[in-house]
Amino acid sequence: MSEPEPIIEARGLTRHYRRPRRSLLRPGRAVPALRDVSFTIHSGQRFGIVGESGSGKSTLIRLLAALDRPTSGTVTFAGREIHGVPERQLGFLRRDLQVVFQDPTGSLDPRMRVRDIVCEPLVAHGHPDRAGRLAELLAAVGLPEDTARSYPHQLSGGQRQRVSIARALAPEPRVLVADEAVSALDVSVRAQILNLLADLVERYSLTLVFVSHDLSVVRHVCDTVAVLHAGELVELGPVDRVYRSPRHDYTRELIAAVPTVRSALTRFSREEPQQ
Ligand SMILES: Nc1ncnc2c1ncn2[C@@H]1O[C@H](COP(=O)(O)OP(=O)(O)O)[C@@H](O)[C@H]1O
Ligand SMILES: [Mg+2]
Repeated sequence: MSEPEPIIEARGLTRHYRRPRRSLLRPGRAVPALRDVSFTIHSGQRFGIVGESGSGKSTLIRLLAALDRPTSGTVTFAGREIHGVPERQLGFLRRDLQVVFQDPTGSLDPRMRVRDIVCEPLVAHGHPDRAGRLAELLAAVGLPEDTARSYPHQLSGGQRQRVSIARALAPEPRVLVADEAVSALDVSVRAQILNLLADLVERYSLTLVFVSHDLSVVRHVCDTVAVLHAGELVELGPVDRVYRSPRHDYTRELIAAVPTVRSALTRFSREEPQQ
């Protein structure tokens, strides 16, 4: 078997955001949301990115998807630079990398029916058999055929996320990115969508980039994990190794933060007011 090829290479990725002028805290100062982050994702990998809220995960995803530009650093996709090139040269990326976001209500146009939402990328790429492909995609994500006529608000949260996934799969991407894609869902629905993602990755030989604030979820889905803390990559390795013997204090904290009944009780008793 040949070595899996690198598909995404991030080198020295840094992104500063400027604080709004009105801010009382050092007005206008540039705040680093991401600092000197480098890693390689190989074809077929299930690559997790974990870190608490505000650690820079979505900033990183926007840079990998060329939805935003780095302050410094580079990203290549299948060996091609994606920053500092005109949008019209990014057709390969717009097709080969698809992102599913946390909140499908925000990313699905409420005035469009499911069939148009899912087929939109097919129209853009001139697909010869849209109806056939639509039926195939709905079946792949476990939605009944008549969902095609529904509007997003007529569906449950889990169904809406299935629609987002069907839309993401429509252009036959090589890489599927899920940014907190299950975080807004109820526990039982979350498990169903996680299993669906795992099945689809297997079935279509996708590379998965899976972003979550919850390491236990990442462990369930990914083979490799990158841990972000305050915009820095503090740990990177096989997910089982990282889980069993974390090298960074922050990773240990994330593991300890897994909400078991016991830790919830401990936290509760710690929050009791001091007598
Ligand atoms: N468009 C933006 N303008 C200013 N600051 C931002 C912007 N997007 C994110 N940030 C800041 O960058 C940091 C990282 O945010 P984000 O990448 O969204 O983290 P995460 O996805 O891990 O929760 C946070 O401090 C956030 O407030
Ligand atoms: Mg985020």
